[in-house]
Amino acid sequence: MNATMSLEKKTHFPVLLKEILSIISPQYGGIFIDCTFGQGGYSKKILEYPNTNVIALDRDNDSENISRSVKKKFKERFTFVNKKFSQIDTIDLKKKNIKSIIFDLGYSYTQIKNPKKKLSFNDTGELNMRLGLNSFSAKEVINKLEQKDLEKIFKYFGDEKSSKQIAYKIIKNREIKIIDTQQLVKIIQSSKKKNYKIHSATKVFQALRIFVNKEISELIYGLINATKILEPGGSIVVVTFHSLEDRIVKFFFKSLSEKKSISRYVPKNIDSDNLFKLINKKPIFPSSNEIKENPPSRSAKLRYVIKEKNIPNFEKEILKKFEYLLEIENLSKKL
Ligand SMILES: C[S@@+](CC[C@H](N)C(=O)[O-])C[C@H]1O[C@@H](n2cnc3c(N)ncnc32)[C@H](O)[C@@H]1O
Repeated sequence: MNATMSLEKKTHFPVLLKEILSIISPQYGGIFIDCTFGQGGYSKKILEYPNTNVIALDRDNDSENISRSVKKKFKERFTFVNKKFSQIDTIDLKKKNIKSIIFDLGYSYTQIKNPKKKLSFNDTGELNMRLGLNSFSAKEVINKLEQKDLEKIFKYFGDEKSSKQIAYKIIKNREIKIIDTQQLVKIIQSSKKKNYKIHSATKVFQALRIFVNKEISELIYGLINATKILEPGGSIVVVTFHSLEDRIVKFFFKSLSEKKSISRYVPKNIDSDNLFKLINKKPIFPSSNEIKENPPSRSAKLRYVIKEKNIPNFEKEILKKFEYLLEIENLSKKL
C-alpha cells in the first residue's frame, strides 16, 4: 500500500511533505516539476508560495480531472501533462530553468480504491492493474506468459519465495478457464504457507503491478531524463515505497556523486567531476508523528541530490547495473 493516504482516516496525506518543502525551498520561488501529481498534494502546497510555477505529470488521466481545479485557481502558474515521467524530456520547457524535480512513486489510495483498476487483492473480476497509458494488462500477463517468465516476474519484482509453485499452478489452472483476480488470490494462497504479517498475495500483486506499468524502466529513464533536463544547482527528490525502487534510486544517486579517481594512487579530491552532490547518504524517513497520523507512510524513504555538472553518457553505468531487471520487463514483448 502506498503511503500518501491513510486507510484508517480515508483522507489524503502527501507523504514527507514538510521534509520535501525544506529541501526544495518554494518560499524563494522557482519552477518545479511534480512528476507524480496524484491528488495534487505536493503541487498545491508548492503553489501556495507566490513566486512558484508547477509543471505536473501523471500517467493516470483521472489525475487530469483533479488538476482542473488547481488550474482554475493558479492559472498560468500551473500546467498538467498526462504523460509518463520517463518522457519528462519531451515536455516543452521553453528553456526554463527548473529548480527541482520531484517523484512520489507508486500509486495512491484513490487508485487502489478504484474498482476498475483492480490493484487490490480484495477486488473481484478481470485482472487489470493498469495505472494509465499502458499497452497490456495483468489479465494478459497471467493468462498468456510462459511458466518460466511468470516465475521470473514474481521472483525479481516481488521477491516471492514461492514463485515456482505459483507459476506452475497458474499454468495448470488457466488450461481450464481464464484466471481472474480472486482466482489468482486463491492460487497464491494454495501455493504458500499462511503469512500472518502480510496477505499472501501482496508480493505477487506488487510484482504484477510493477511489470504491467513497466515501473523499472519508468524509474530508470525518469531519473536519467530528469537529470538531462536539469541545470546545475537544481535538485531531484524521490520518495520510494519498496526496496526494489529504493535500490535503483540509491545506486543512481550514490554512483553519480562519488568522486572517482582515474587511479587509486591519484588523490580522490583532485578529480571531482561529479554529476551530483549527495547531501544525505542515508535516506530520510517519516517522523513518528507522521507514521502515527498516516500509518502506511512507514515504508516511505526520501532521497535527494543536487546536480553539479553536465556529464555526457552518465547513464551507461545504471543501465548496465539494472540490465537484468530491464530484460525481465522486456518479456512483455511476447504479449
Ligand atoms: C503516490 S501517488 C502521488 C501522490 C501525490 N504526491 C499527492 O500528494 O497527491 C503516485 C502517482 O504517480 C502516478 N504515476 C506512477 N507512475 C508514473 C509514471 N511512470 N509516470 C507518471 N505518473 C506516474 C500514479 O498514477 C499516481 O497518481
